[in-house]
Amino acid sequence: KRKKVKDVLTKELEDTSNVTVLGWVRTKRVSKNIAFIEINDGSTLKNLQVVILNPDEFEVLAEINTGTSLKIVGYLEEVKGREQSVEMKAKEIELIGDCPSDYELQKKRHSFEYLREIAHLRPRTNTFGVMNRFRSKMSYAVHKFFQKRGFNYIHTPIITANDTEGAGELFRVTNFDLANLPLTDKGEVDFSQDFFNEETGLTVSGQLEAEVLATALGDVYTFGPTFRAENSNTTRHAAEFWMIEPEMAFCDLDENMQLIEEFLKYLFNYALEECAEEMAFFDRWIAEDNRIENLKKIINSDFAQISYTEAVEILTVADKEFDYQVEWGIDLQTEHERYLTEEHFNKPVMVTDYPKDIKAFYMRLNDDQKTVRAVDCLVPGVGEIIGGSQREERYDVLVQMMEEDGMELEQYDWFLDLRKYGTVPHSGFGLGFERILMYISGMKNIRDVISFPRTPGNAKF
Ligand code: 4AD
Ligand code: MG
Repeated sequence: KRKKVKDVLTKELEDTSNVTVLGWVRTKRVSKNIAFIEINDGSTLKNLQVVILNPDEFEVLAEINTGTSLKIVGYLEEVKGREQSVEMKAKEIELIGDCPSDYELQKKRHSFEYLREIAHLRPRTNTFGVMNRFRSKMSYAVHKFFQKRGFNYIHTPIITANDTEGAGELFRVTNFDLANLPLTDKGEVDFSQDFFNEETGLTVSGQLEAEVLATALGDVYTFGPTFRAENSNTTRHAAEFWMIEPEMAFCDLDENMQLIEEFLKYLFNYALEECAEEMAFFDRWIAEDNRIENLKKIINSDFAQISYTEAVEILTVADKEFDYQVEWGIDLQTEHERYLTEEHFNKPVMVTDYPKDIKAFYMRLNDDQKTVRAVDCLVPGVGEIIGGSQREERYDVLVQMMEEDGMELEQYDWFLDLRKYGTVPHSGFGLGFERILMYISGMKNIRDVISFPRTPGNAKF
């Protein structure tokens, strides 16, 4: 019989004479002949107004504070001329958990930094209630998009011996007895005895394993946690973040980019249509610009598409001083990415064909022998949200690229085998889930789109 506040407020309930609602008190006002309690159960941003017509008969009222959890049974009545169309007249109120008066969910707003330190409070605030529900709905949207297209959802390992991106950002996984560390002859820790005698870490990307399954199943995607041991304290990096990595056999970079644009537009559209309450909140309270209007515009226009070489040309003639000097071969810095997407194009930009020296070993080498078939997707306000590429499917070329990078070929023989046995052109990309949530919501700090951020100094909860 228990109803969610969201359904009470928005649905036609069959029986409105005897409804049970459970939730936490937001506010209480008591006067002589009438009392009001606003209750929130996490199902919506909105509170249900509960009216108590005969407060003298409810002794429990004295024990109710902001934060108290309650069970309320009552009947629903329509109300005219207010935001909420329904209120509840209480018949029974049962106190479930009391809440002392030092509970800090008050009318005044706490800073996001402060809230990150208080586990019980943060998700009960309007902002993080909205954000958590938004995260859930957008996760569903990701699955919906790929499942509709016949992609297989695959689970790639979290513990792995490979460092896909080769950036040395692997967190070590070890079963060492710390009191009895295995040592080499030189007295250094012998990492070859890690994890049952293999050097392992937490995955930085599921891509290499996704390639194994794509070259068997066709179209696959991962959606899971990935880890990067970069000790960078920025607003866009987390040590643990969720990544969506589609991988497609018989697919070149153009088709890959088409999928990127369709996928992002699908997510924008899903947010506007299925997350109206959340989007209205972000638009009003979080984003500095008009988020809803801007997303609509972006859905209705094409993303920009340029090569890395063209990007360097645009930046070179730009009427702007960059801190980091632009020349062909540099890795584009945040200031460059932001110029391209915010000032030059003012919409999402896909940059292709980067110099091979600044990209991972697995990207397909172009005929110029200098660039690879890479694509990064940049968006205003956030910068890079997607990194992808067509993969090198030619055995000999891949071996050469790996040797240039000084990689141990035996360690990746299983990966090379994909190029030996029925190799196919294939492509894929990785979307940082937090980055897309930041972009859609306008939230400025990656920590504030994650329920439990893992960044330097944040690991307790
Ligand atoms: O560009 P990256 O490193 O690409 C890969 O990992 C490829 N293996 C993907 C693929 O082709 N299957 O990371 C992909 C995306 C980035 O564009 C960014 O959105 C996000 O992952 N990302 C991070 N998000 C939050 N915190 C971090 N430390 C991130 N590092 C990457
Ligand atoms: Mg990248």
